[in-house]
Amino acid sequence: MHLVIINGPNLNLLGRREPGIYGSSSFESFFEQLKQKHPEIRFDYFQSNIEGELVTALQQYGFEADGIILNPAAYTHTSVAIGDAIASVNTPVVEVHISNVHAREDFRKISHVSAKSAGSIIGLGLMGYELAVQYFRDFKK
Ligand code: DQA
Repeated sequence: MHLVIINGPNLNLLGRREPGIYGSSSFESFFEQLKQKHPEIRFDYFQSNIEGELVTALQQYGFEADGIILNPAAYTHTSVAIGDAIASVNTPVVEVHISNVHAREDFRKISHVSAKSAGSIIGLGLMGYELAVQYFRDFKK
């Protein structure tokens, strides 16, 4: 099984960025643990601060990976292009947000991604990525 995690802008700063909201673990250290827990899964990881690069990554992986775990970060709330990219590809996408976007500012309640995704995991911290992996592993064989 081949899974791809795609993270959007500012998620490269996890661990240093607003730790009260996003926690104190870097994504890289979490990702190492995730790979060790699931040696049977081939993982790729892509992060970009640039909207078009996220669209290109969705197009590249979206016809060959078994699942995409996507946290588009702030672009969730603004990017029609990312929503369109999810709808354009074959690979199912699970949307993940570390924080509970529904308990924050109103503009974070809008998602251009949710309706195009297989499902969304919101507000459960980095565990959301792990739960998405379990979903693809157990239900998308
Ligand atoms: C986020 C929530 C977004 O509103 C925010 O812009 C982010 C991270 C999350 O994972 O909680 O950068 O996607």
